[in-house]
Amino acid sequence: MNTEAVKCDCCASDETQKLEQITNVIDLYKNKSGSLIQILHLAQQIYGHLPLKLQEYIANSLGIPLSEVSGVVTFYSFFTTKPRGKHTIRVCLGTACYVRGGKKLVERLEELLNIQIGETTEDGRFTFEIARCIGACGLAPAIMIDDVVYKQVNVNKLESILSKY
Ligand code: FES
Repeated sequence: MNTEAVKCDCCASDETQKLEQITNVIDLYKNKSGSLIQILHLAQQIYGHLPLKLQEYIANSLGIPLSEVSGVVTFYSFFTTKPRGKHTIRVCLGTACYVRGGKKLVERLEELLNIQIGETTEDGRFTFEIARCIGACGLAPAIMIDDVVYKQVNVNKLESILSKY
């Protein structure tokens, strides 16, 4: 990939390092059949997301069409082409959480974060998503921030929970 395409002035050396790591991952896996998903996983871990330029670079390095790479990226929901926030907030809207106020939590978080579900805050701090049961039904409604589960959450607790991040 032309590294200029994904560089920014503030973190050029960081970008270069990430691209070197991704190149190493590709070299390591490129002769193993069925390794595309593994490469994409690792590339996303390193880079944070999979923009088109990075997909092109991976496709060229593997000698496969861009459409094959893009097809995999768009098929699996765990791949993302947009930058994610530093923290991921997931509000559970499984049945137990939904009937005990999960929807109100979503509405309040949309206000507090000033974004909709699926979006990332402008400061890059939070990505906001929905979950379908996170295993805390007995203490619903529940939310998760990264891998921490908050149980029996109500709209009044949200600000103090967010302030920890
Ligand atoms: S439905 Fe929300 S934790 Fe199970």
